[in-house]
Amino acid sequence: MQMIVTTSHKPERRQVVEALELARRLKVRYVSRRHLVRRKGETVVVVESKGISALKDDKRLFFHPSLAVIRRSNIKSGERDYLIESLSLNGDESVLDCTLGLGSEAILIAHFLTKGKVVGLEKSKIVQIVVEDGIKRVDNVPKWVAEAVKRIEILNADYKEYVRSTKEKFDCVYVDPMFEHPSCNSPAMDNLRPFVDNSTVDVSDLEFMKKIARKRVVVKARWNDSIFERYEFNRVMGSPKSGISYGVIEV
Ligand SMILES: C[S@@+](CC[C@H](N)C(=O)[O-])C[C@H]1O[C@@H](n2cnc3c(N)ncnc32)[C@H](O)[C@@H]1O
Repeated sequence: MQMIVTTSHKPERRQVVEALELARRLKVRYVSRRHLVRRKGETVVVVESKGISALKDDKRLFFHPSLAVIRRSNIKSGERDYLIESLSLNGDESVLDCTLGLGSEAILIAHFLTKGKVVGLEKSKIVQIVVEDGIKRVDNVPKWVAEAVKRIEILNADYKEYVRSTKEKFDCVYVDPMFEHPSCNSPAMDNLRPFVDNSTVDVSDLEFMKKIARKRVVVKARWNDSIFERYEFNRVMGSPKSGISYGVIEV
Protein backbone atom coordinates (compact mmCIF):
# COMPACT_ATOMS: atom_id res chain seq x y z
CA MET A 1 0.00 0.00 0.00
CA GLN A 2 1.43 3.40 -1.00
CA MET A 3 1.31 5.75 1.97
CA ILE A 4 2.52 9.20 3.03
CA VAL A 5 2.05 11.24 6.20
CA THR A 6 1.09 14.92 6.37
CA THR A 7 -0.79 17.34 8.65
CA SER A 8 -3.98 19.34 8.28
CA HIS A 9 -3.69 22.85 6.79
CA LYS A 10 -1.90 25.48 8.93
CA PRO A 11 -0.67 22.95 11.49
CA GLU A 12 0.57 23.71 14.96
CA ARG A 13 4.23 22.86 15.64
CA ARG A 14 3.22 19.81 17.74
CA GLN A 15 1.26 18.34 14.78
CA VAL A 16 4.34 18.55 12.54
CA VAL A 17 6.47 16.86 15.22
CA GLU A 18 3.82 14.14 15.61
CA ALA A 19 3.54 13.64 11.84
CA LEU A 20 7.31 13.33 11.46
CA GLU A 21 7.42 10.76 14.27
CA LEU A 22 4.51 8.82 12.74
CA ALA A 23 6.19 8.79 9.30
CA ARG A 24 9.37 7.46 10.93
CA ARG A 25 7.41 4.71 12.74
CA LEU A 26 5.55 3.72 9.56
CA LYS A 27 8.74 3.97 7.48
CA VAL A 28 7.00 6.21 4.93
CA ARG A 29 7.57 9.75 3.62
CA TYR A 30 6.44 12.91 5.42
CA VAL A 31 5.17 15.63 3.09
CA SER A 32 4.26 19.11 4.35
CA ARG A 33 0.61 19.89 3.61
CA ARG A 34 1.57 22.86 1.43
CA HIS A 35 3.47 20.54 -0.93
CA LEU A 36 0.98 17.65 -0.88
CA VAL A 37 -0.03 16.32 -4.31
CA ARG A 38 -2.77 13.67 -4.02
CA ARG A 39 -2.28 10.53 -6.16
CA LYS A 40 -4.95 7.98 -7.07
CA GLY A 41 -4.93 4.96 -4.75
CA GLU A 42 -2.43 6.51 -2.33
CA THR A 43 -3.21 6.55 1.41
CA VAL A 44 -2.58 9.94 3.00
CA VAL A 45 -2.35 9.83 6.79
CA VAL A 46 -3.29 13.24 8.22
CA VAL A 47 -2.24 14.39 11.69
CA GLU A 48 -5.06 16.80 12.52
CA SER A 49 -5.26 19.04 15.57
CA LYS A 50 -7.59 16.57 17.32
CA GLY A 51 -6.55 13.18 16.00
CA ILE A 52 -5.36 11.14 13.04
CA SER A 53 -7.40 10.49 9.92
CA ALA A 54 -6.61 8.79 6.60
CA LEU A 55 -7.62 9.73 3.06
CA LYS A 56 -7.78 7.52 0.02
CA ASP A 57 -9.35 8.80 -3.20
CA ASP A 58 -12.75 10.18 -2.08
CA LYS A 59 -12.90 8.28 1.23
CA ARG A 60 -11.92 9.57 4.68
CA LEU A 61 -11.33 7.24 7.61
CA PHE A 62 -11.60 8.74 11.10
CA PHE A 63 -12.59 7.57 14.53
CA HIS A 64 -15.92 8.46 16.07
CA PRO A 65 -17.83 6.55 18.73
CA SER A 66 -21.26 7.55 17.33
CA LEU A 67 -22.28 4.03 16.21
CA ALA A 68 -21.64 2.69 19.72
CA VAL A 69 -23.55 5.63 21.19
CA ILE A 70 -26.58 4.95 18.96
CA ARG A 71 -26.60 1.24 19.78
CA ARG A 72 -26.35 1.83 23.50
CA SER A 73 -29.19 4.33 23.39
CA ASN A 74 -31.32 1.83 21.41
CA ILE A 75 -30.63 -0.79 24.10
CA LYS A 76 -31.59 1.75 26.79
CA SER A 77 -34.91 2.34 25.05
CA GLY A 78 -35.66 -1.38 25.08
CA GLU A 79 -34.44 -2.53 21.63
CA ARG A 80 -32.70 -5.89 21.33
CA ASP A 81 -29.00 -5.89 20.49
CA TYR A 82 -28.15 -9.30 19.08
CA LEU A 83 -24.39 -8.91 19.54
CA ILE A 84 -24.75 -8.27 23.27
CA GLU A 85 -27.38 -11.02 23.57
CA SER A 86 -25.29 -13.56 21.71
CA LEU A 87 -22.24 -12.91 23.93
CA SER A 88 -24.34 -13.40 27.14
CA LEU A 89 -21.93 -11.43 29.31
CA ASN A 90 -21.89 -11.36 33.12
CA GLY A 91 -19.61 -8.32 33.20
CA ASP A 92 -16.34 -9.83 34.38
CA GLU A 93 -15.26 -11.63 31.21
CA SER A 94 -12.39 -11.18 28.80
CA VAL A 95 -13.43 -10.83 25.17
CA LEU A 96 -11.18 -11.12 22.13
CA ASP A 97 -12.55 -8.92 19.32
CA CYS A 98 -10.68 -10.37 16.33
CA THR A 99 -11.77 -7.60 13.93
CA LEU A 100 -11.63 -4.20 15.64
CA GLY A 101 -12.47 -2.07 12.58
CA LEU A 102 -13.87 1.28 13.77
CA GLY A 103 -13.98 0.00 17.35
CA SER A 104 -17.74 0.59 17.76
CA GLU A 105 -18.58 -2.93 18.86
CA ALA A 106 -15.46 -3.17 21.06
CA ILE A 107 -16.69 -0.03 22.89
CA LEU A 108 -20.20 -1.44 23.27
CA ILE A 109 -18.87 -4.77 24.55
CA ALA A 110 -16.45 -3.01 26.96
CA HIS A 111 -19.39 -1.02 28.33
CA PHE A 112 -21.02 -4.28 29.43
CA LEU A 113 -17.77 -5.55 30.98
CA THR A 114 -17.51 -3.37 34.06
CA LYS A 115 -14.96 -5.78 35.55
CA GLY A 116 -13.65 -7.31 32.34
CA LYS A 117 -11.62 -6.33 29.28
CA VAL A 118 -11.62 -6.40 25.50
CA VAL A 119 -8.55 -7.16 23.41
CA GLY A 120 -9.12 -5.84 19.88
CA LEU A 121 -7.07 -7.10 16.94
CA GLU A 122 -6.80 -5.20 13.65
CA LYS A 123 -4.74 -6.38 10.70
CA SER A 124 -4.75 -3.10 8.75
CA LYS A 125 -1.99 -0.92 10.21
CA ILE A 126 -3.69 2.29 9.13
CA VAL A 127 -7.07 1.31 10.63
CA GLN A 128 -5.31 0.32 13.86
CA ILE A 129 -3.45 3.64 14.05
CA VAL A 130 -6.51 5.83 13.36
CA VAL A 131 -8.78 3.94 15.77
CA GLU A 132 -6.22 3.48 18.56
CA ASP A 133 -5.30 7.17 18.38
CA GLY A 134 -9.00 8.15 18.44
CA ILE A 135 -9.80 5.85 21.34
CA LYS A 136 -6.88 7.24 23.41
CA ARG A 137 -7.89 10.86 22.77
CA VAL A 138 -11.64 10.65 23.34
CA ASP A 139 -13.01 13.91 24.69
CA ASN A 140 -16.49 15.40 24.51
CA VAL A 141 -17.95 11.90 24.66
CA PRO A 142 -20.49 10.46 27.08
CA LYS A 143 -18.93 9.35 30.38
CA TRP A 144 -19.75 5.70 29.69
CA VAL A 145 -17.66 5.81 26.47
CA ALA A 146 -14.69 7.37 28.31
CA GLU A 147 -14.95 4.58 30.92
CA ALA A 148 -15.42 1.76 28.38
CA VAL A 149 -12.40 2.66 26.23
CA LYS A 150 -10.13 2.27 29.28
CA ARG A 151 -10.97 -1.45 29.19
CA ILE A 152 -9.89 -1.91 25.54
CA GLU A 153 -6.41 -2.99 24.49
CA ILE A 154 -5.60 -2.76 20.77
CA LEU A 155 -3.07 -4.84 18.85
CA ASN A 156 -2.03 -4.64 15.20
CA ALA A 157 -2.35 -8.35 14.42
CA ASP A 158 -3.83 -10.86 12.01
CA TYR A 159 -6.38 -12.89 13.98
CA LYS A 160 -5.70 -15.93 11.80
CA GLU A 161 -2.13 -16.01 13.13
CA TYR A 162 -3.03 -14.78 16.62
CA VAL A 163 -5.60 -17.49 17.40
CA ARG A 164 -3.15 -20.15 16.25
CA SER A 165 -0.23 -18.92 18.35
CA THR A 166 -1.51 -17.22 21.52
CA LYS A 167 -1.14 -18.92 24.90
CA GLU A 168 -3.90 -16.67 26.29
CA LYS A 169 -7.51 -17.81 26.79
CA PHE A 170 -10.58 -15.55 26.54
CA ASP A 171 -14.10 -16.10 27.82
CA CYS A 172 -15.56 -15.08 24.45
CA VAL A 173 -14.08 -14.68 20.99
CA TYR A 174 -15.87 -12.45 18.51
CA VAL A 175 -15.19 -12.06 14.79
CA ASP A 176 -16.85 -9.63 12.35
CA PRO A 177 -15.10 -9.90 8.97
CA MET A 178 -16.08 -7.64 6.06
CA PHE A 179 -19.34 -8.95 4.58
CA GLU A 180 -19.14 -11.12 1.44
CA HIS A 181 -22.19 -9.27 0.13
CA PRO A 182 -21.89 -5.72 1.50
CA SER A 183 -25.01 -3.67 2.10
CA CYS A 184 -24.90 -0.23 0.54
CA ASN A 185 -26.46 1.71 3.38
CA SER A 186 -23.56 2.10 5.80
CA PRO A 187 -21.52 5.29 5.18
CA ALA A 188 -19.15 4.35 8.04
CA MET A 189 -18.35 0.97 6.44
CA ASP A 190 -18.04 2.62 3.00
CA ASN A 191 -15.33 4.90 4.36
CA LEU A 192 -13.58 1.98 6.08
CA ARG A 193 -13.65 -0.35 3.05
CA PRO A 194 -10.62 0.99 1.07
CA PHE A 195 -8.35 0.57 4.10
CA VAL A 196 -9.28 -2.93 5.32
CA ASP A 197 -8.40 -6.58 4.95
CA ASN A 198 -11.25 -8.36 3.13
CA SER A 199 -10.43 -11.99 3.94
CA THR A 200 -13.26 -14.29 5.02
CA VAL A 201 -13.33 -16.38 8.15
CA ASP A 202 -12.53 -20.06 7.51
CA VAL A 203 -13.83 -23.09 9.37
CA SER A 204 -10.23 -23.82 10.46
CA ASP A 205 -10.07 -20.31 12.04
CA LEU A 206 -13.22 -21.15 14.02
CA GLU A 207 -11.62 -24.38 15.27
CA PHE A 208 -8.66 -22.41 16.68
CA MET A 209 -11.00 -19.77 18.17
CA LYS A 210 -12.84 -22.56 19.99
CA LYS A 211 -9.54 -23.73 21.49
CA ILE A 212 -8.83 -20.34 23.08
CA ALA A 213 -12.45 -19.60 24.15
CA ARG A 214 -13.73 -20.68 27.57
CA LYS A 215 -17.41 -19.97 26.88
CA ARG A 216 -18.31 -19.15 23.28
CA VAL A 217 -17.31 -17.92 19.84
CA VAL A 218 -19.58 -15.49 18.01
CA VAL A 219 -19.40 -14.77 14.27
CA LYS A 220 -21.19 -11.84 12.63
CA ALA A 221 -22.21 -12.13 8.99
CA ARG A 222 -25.10 -11.30 6.68
CA TRP A 223 -27.76 -14.02 6.49
CA ASN A 224 -26.60 -15.01 2.95
CA ASP A 225 -22.89 -15.27 3.86
CA SER A 226 -21.37 -18.66 2.97
CA ILE A 227 -20.16 -19.20 6.56
CA PHE A 228 -23.70 -20.33 7.46
CA GLU A 229 -23.40 -23.12 4.85
CA ARG A 230 -19.82 -23.96 5.76
CA TYR A 231 -20.37 -24.24 9.53
CA GLU A 232 -23.18 -25.52 11.72
CA PHE A 233 -23.58 -23.08 14.63
CA ASN A 234 -25.32 -23.97 17.91
CA ARG A 235 -27.66 -21.06 17.25
CA VAL A 236 -27.99 -18.15 14.87
CA MET A 237 -29.72 -14.98 15.99
CA GLY A 238 -30.35 -11.62 14.43
CA SER A 239 -32.86 -9.23 13.02
CA PRO A 240 -34.52 -10.33 9.75
CA LYS A 241 -34.99 -6.61 8.95
CA SER A 242 -31.26 -5.78 8.94
CA GLY A 243 -30.21 -9.17 7.54
CA ILE A 244 -27.32 -9.25 10.02
CA SER A 245 -26.89 -12.52 11.88
CA TYR A 246 -24.75 -13.71 14.77
CA GLY A 247 -23.69 -17.37 14.72
CA VAL A 248 -22.94 -18.70 18.20
CA ILE A 249 -20.68 -21.65 19.03
CA GLU A 250 -20.93 -22.80 22.66
CA VAL A 251 -17.62 -24.31 23.75
C1 LIG B 1 -16.49 -5.25 9.43
S1 LIG B 1 -15.05 -4.53 10.06
C2 LIG B 1 -15.28 -4.69 11.79
C3 LIG B 1 -16.18 -3.64 12.34
C4 LIG B 1 -16.18 -3.61 13.85
N1 LIG B 1 -16.89 -4.72 14.41
C5 LIG B 1 -16.72 -2.28 14.35
O1 LIG B 1 -17.53 -2.28 15.30
O2 LIG B 1 -16.33 -1.24 13.82
C6 LIG B 1 -13.81 -5.74 9.78
C7 LIG B 1 -12.43 -5.29 10.22
O3 LIG B 1 -11.64 -6.46 10.45
C8 LIG B 1 -10.37 -6.29 9.90
N2 LIG B 1 -9.81 -7.61 9.56
C9 LIG B 1 -10.14 -8.39 8.48
N3 LIG B 1 -9.41 -9.53 8.48
C10 LIG B 1 -8.64 -9.46 9.60
C11 LIG B 1 -7.68 -10.35 10.15
N4 LIG B 1 -7.36 -11.50 9.54
N5 LIG B 1 -7.08 -10.01 11.32
C12 LIG B 1 -7.40 -8.83 11.95
N6 LIG B 1 -8.27 -7.94 11.44
C13 LIG B 1 -8.89 -8.25 10.29
C14 LIG B 1 -10.58 -5.41 8.68
O4 LIG B 1 -9.37 -4.75 8.32
C15 LIG B 1 -11.68 -4.47 9.19
O5 LIG B 1 -11.14 -3.33 9.80
